[in-house]
Amino acid sequence: MIIKTLLSPLNVDELYFTNKTTVVIDVLRATTTIVTALQNGAKEIIPVSSIEFAMKVSGDTFSGQTLLAGERNTKKIDGFSLGNSPLEYKPEIINGKSIVFFTTNGSKAIVKAKYSSELLISCFLNTKSIANQVSKNSEVIILCSGNNGLFSLEDSVCAGDLIYELKTLIDDVKLDDASKTCLFLYKKNKKRLKKMLMETEHGMKLYDQGFKKDIVFASQKSIFNCIPIYDTGSIKLLK
Ligand code: MLT
Repeated sequence: MIIKTLLSPLNVDELYFTNKTTVVIDVLRATTTIVTALQNGAKEIIPVSSIEFAMKVSGDTFSGQTLLAGERNTKKIDGFSLGNSPLEYKPEIINGKSIVFFTTNGSKAIVKAKYSSELLISCFLNTKSIANQVSKNSEVIILCSGNNGLFSLEDSVCAGDLIYELKTLIDDVKLDDASKTCLFLYKKNKKRLKKMLMETEHGMKLYDQGFKKDIVFASQKSIFNCIPIYDTGSIKLLK
């Protein structure tokens, strides 16, 4: 297997993903929230790349069954039902709901990778199940959502976690330089994921804004055995 890691979505255009198996990661917090929402019973997540489009999509769907969710500058957007804290996505609130989801980096990265032949969503909560799912592929692209077009430590460490899991399943794995760096970063941090998240730029920002519990939650390794997969506009759990 060949594993290539993109440290930010800005380095490639949409067509790069054509015929590729891609795993998108945004640990703080978009993919952690998506995984949690689906695990807690949401019917689907509809990722969008602008707030205007979120409004339009939710206006077109059946009222009551659709929630508008996401953040701008880490805060819930005016008029939206939910923000981007995974802890908000409780079963009693989101069970059976379609959730139109906009975030600064994560939802945009997913939309950018939409031409992938297989597009999966990962974070620390489900790296083992994602590794199992893609282990038969000859090539996997890991797309780190990053931080406004720049490198983010938390996504790169999580990419390293996924690579680490894949290396336990497959003997012959070839890594590009970015993947080797992510694996190195994971090995350095695997026993201190919570601390590592707290020390990142975005972790410190979330901490200052009162989201410490989100960081602690996001640091849990492979607690869910689920595979969120994007298909024609929405993310659902693979049955
Ligand atoms: C993003 O997509 O940029 C993040 O999930 C931001 C956040 O922490 O809400």
